Amino acid sequence: MQEFRGFELEGWQRAAEHYANAFGSLTSQTIASVLDAVRVDAGVRLLDVATGPGYLAALAAEQGALVHGIDFSPAMVAEAERRYPALSFTEGDAESLSFPDRAFDAVAMNFGMLHLAHPEAAAAEAYRVLRPGGRYAFTVWAAPEEAVGFGAVLRAIEAHGTSDVGLPPGPPFFRFSDPEECRRFVQEAGFVQPEVRQLPLVWRVASADVVLDALSRGGVRTAAVLRAQTPEALVRIRKAAAMTLASYARGETLAVPMAAVLASAAKPS
Ligand SMILES: C[S@@+](CC[C@H](N)C(=O)[O-])C[C@H]1O[C@@H](n2cnc3c(N)ncnc32)[C@H](O)[C@@H]1O
Repeated sequence: MQEFRGFELEGWQRAAEHYANAFGSLTSQTIASVLDAVRVDAGVRLLDVATGPGYLAALAAEQGALVHGIDFSPAMVAEAERRYPALSFTEGDAESLSFPDRAFDAVAMNFGMLHLAHPEAAAAEAYRVLRPGGRYAFTVWAAPEEAVGFGAVLRAIEAHGTSDVGLPPGPPFFRFSDPEECRRFVQEAGFVQPEVRQLPLVWRVASADVVLDALSRGGVRTAAVLRAQTPEALVRIRKAAAMTLASYARGETLAVPMAAVLASAAKPS
């Protein structure tokens, strides 16, 4: 799993400059719900783990939270600092937090969980740094049938290319798309009152190429798989994904369903 962590870190260092354009309009759609789930309010001490460009931290700060964002990618931390110079961001690993026990009222992670080598370690660390009664929430993508942008591209790769490109083994990308697995996971970490719900995000894009380009440049695992295809396979993959996504045309644009799963829970009081 050490190899997987290194692969993800290198991938995020490369993706940092493209990520906001590729995924920002999408991942920021869940933030208000995540902040509700951790009960953000004025004065709440919130840790935004895997902050990326800092979207969640920024909205929390607007709502009066005392927020700190961490990310293991120096390039992402620089991106967050550039966007939100008044906020506080540092480099840090979700699986080994550099904060004392009970330092926060809330810990949130928007679309970070599915990039971790050891999600259990991240949940244990969130638990440790939360005060009793504090709230924890994270989001991930729903299954590929419901996160259709991913589904269309992954199916096209299966049909016209290969997903066996020698990536370092990592946890299953869609593990937490299963609500039962989310509940079991947070309870095993010691949290109580788990709540899991689906958020119906929509990716509004000018064309299917925008989806392919986002997945090619703004992420890590799928980007590596796409980079490893032959040029001929890539042409077929683009064509097949475009055909699937064409059924989501709304006038001049595509409105691609990209459902997310929001899981939240409390540390016992
Ligand atoms: C999909 S992006 C999500 C960014 C942002 N939270 C959002 O909602 O758009 C995943 C982020 O997780 C960060 N990340 C991945 N593994 C991490 C780890 N072990 N510790 C801290 N950050 C990590 C990446 O650098 C990247 O910025």
